[in-house]
Amino acid sequence: MPVVILISGSGSNLQSIIDGVQAGDLPIDIRAVISNQAEAHGLQRAKAAGIHTEVVNHRDYPSREDFDRALQAAIDAHEPALVILAGFMRILSHAFVEHYLGRMLNIHPALLPHFPGLNTHERALQDGVQEHGATVHFVTTEVDGGPRVLQARVPVRAGDSPDDLAARVLEQEHRIFPQAIRWFAEGRLKMQYDKVLLDDKPLPTSGIDFADIPADSAD
Ligand code: GRF
Repeated sequence: MPVVILISGSGSNLQSIIDGVQAGDLPIDIRAVISNQAEAHGLQRAKAAGIHTEVVNHRDYPSREDFDRALQAAIDAHEPALVILAGFMRILSHAFVEHYLGRMLNIHPALLPHFPGLNTHERALQDGVQEHGATVHFVTTEVDGGPRVLQARVPVRAGDSPDDLAARVLEQEHRIFPQAIRWFAEGRLKMQYDKVLLDDKPLPTSGIDFADIPADSAD
């Protein structure tokens, strides 16, 4: 299945997807990795794996809509069946999101609906929550509000810094994102209106808890 992956930064989630493809676990063809940041380390990871890269710099466009149109043209040139937001740090315009409705997945570093937006780890520590985590969801026009596919939980420990928590959450991101992408690539995962269907069965609102997936079907 042809996919395009959008990044803005380190690209550790991208790396987990590349690793899945290289291990033969992920039936996708990464046609391109596109970044809005020319210096994103993820671009080096893509190049090292022999994947085509492009930069569409938002600073080169007068408005969000102009940038999104250019980004959409760059993506669509590769005819992806799925667009993967792997740490892509831009708010997307409604027209862009609607164009990819039902075929765009995002990973968010929190247990949505808690802590949408930025600085999730700092906010989780400030609020004193005992549990934090990550969520894979379909992208809709509500920022971080689309139907949820998978969540993974991590404990918050006394004395955690935001970086400690981020590292613990990232480890889980690297497990749940490839899993959700695999389901989509296998034709098992669909968005229907505000619901997610896995094997034609609607998922609970919070999505599936990764801990509930039997080990042999998660790998
Ligand atoms: C991840 O925590 C992702 O959930 C968030 O940005 C971070 C990107 O990390 N949106 P990386 O670039 O995949 O290493």
